[in-house]
Amino acid sequence: MKKVLVTGGTGYIGSHTIIELYKKGYEIDVLDNLFNSKETVLDKIEEIAGKRPNFYEIDLTDFDKVEELLAKNQYDLVIHFAGLKAVGESVEKPLEYYENNVSGTINLLRCMQKHGVKKIIFSSSATVYGDPGDPKYTETMETGRNLANPYGRTKYMIEEILKDCVVADKDFEVVLLRYFNPIGNHSSGLIGEDPNGIPNNLMPIIMKVARGEIEELSVFGDDYPTPDGTCLRDYIHVVDLAKGHVAVIDKMEPGVLIYNLGSGKATSVLEMIKAFEAASGQRLPYKVAARREGDLAEFYADPSKAERELGWKTKLTIEDAMRDTLKFLEQN
Ligand code: WQD
Repeated sequence: MKKVLVTGGTGYIGSHTIIELYKKGYEIDVLDNLFNSKETVLDKIEEIAGKRPNFYEIDLTDFDKVEELLAKNQYDLVIHFAGLKAVGESVEKPLEYYENNVSGTINLLRCMQKHGVKKIIFSSSATVYGDPGDPKYTETMETGRNLANPYGRTKYMIEEILKDCVVADKDFEVVLLRYFNPIGNHSSGLIGEDPNGIPNNLMPIIMKVARGEIEELSVFGDDYPTPDGTCLRDYIHVVDLAKGHVAVIDKMEPGVLIYNLGSGKATSVLEMIKAFEAASGQRLPYKVAARREGDLAEFYADPSKAERELGWKTKLTIEDAMRDTLKFLEQN
């Protein structure tokens, strides 16, 4: 298998995954609408990997354009990252999220079906577990209950659509990769998390505070039932996350494979601030603010299934991620 279509390939996780795919000799095309990324990422990918993906500026909601692309290219595999991912925004604009994420994916799947593309790896999220009560998430846990927002519901719905596609077509091969909290970037500092507009996630906000674009970080609550009162999350270096995608390709088979991609360790917001300060040698201004609606006190991966079945586990640390983040800040 050689030719891979990466949707959302100019984005944060997509671009890092392409770097790892190139190491394994895959031929790559990128489909992206550049809503939350920049085409210049392709230059950086070429600088790092010495190869440049073919790029198609296409929105997945444009069925005809997607169909035309899959008619012209025989893809062996689709890795599907493209989608809106701002949790707060999804609450304000649910229809935009359902149209982009769910309808866009249905367009993609219909075109794959029409042109005989039988393999897809889907960028899912730990959010699909909702609030299962136990903070250590395993793949056998029920999903789809008490989901906090439309963003999480789109990820859950797409997982269910993919499972139904497998029932309808016994040859269809699906992988659901449930990410925890991706951080860091490629050690070159050439690519990294650089969302357009106001970010939602902790690390891009820390980066904007470090750049002086935001005055101080608001810590959303320090009265949670955790050791230091701030929320605990499983932060995974995006390069480890990217390697997880490559590790699963050779294991694909008809049916659905589901893996958590996380470190299995939980880190608090205050610990993240301290780690950034240790790496930068500078204080990071922050204040404690009110809790954020929908935040859970704690969740982290049980990553043992991916280790057992894929031989994959995280190798990079929070300190590695902070070091690499600073390199990206220096260069961007
Ligand atoms: C992490 C911690 C905040 C910003 C979300 C999505 C999930 C996945 C990762 C895509 C929380 C705290 C944050 C700030 C803060 N995305 N925080 N001040 O909410 O764990 O997960 O992003 O797949 O699907 O749900 O990530 O980075 O938003 O927050 O104190 O300015 O940092 O309260 O405890 P989250 P996050």
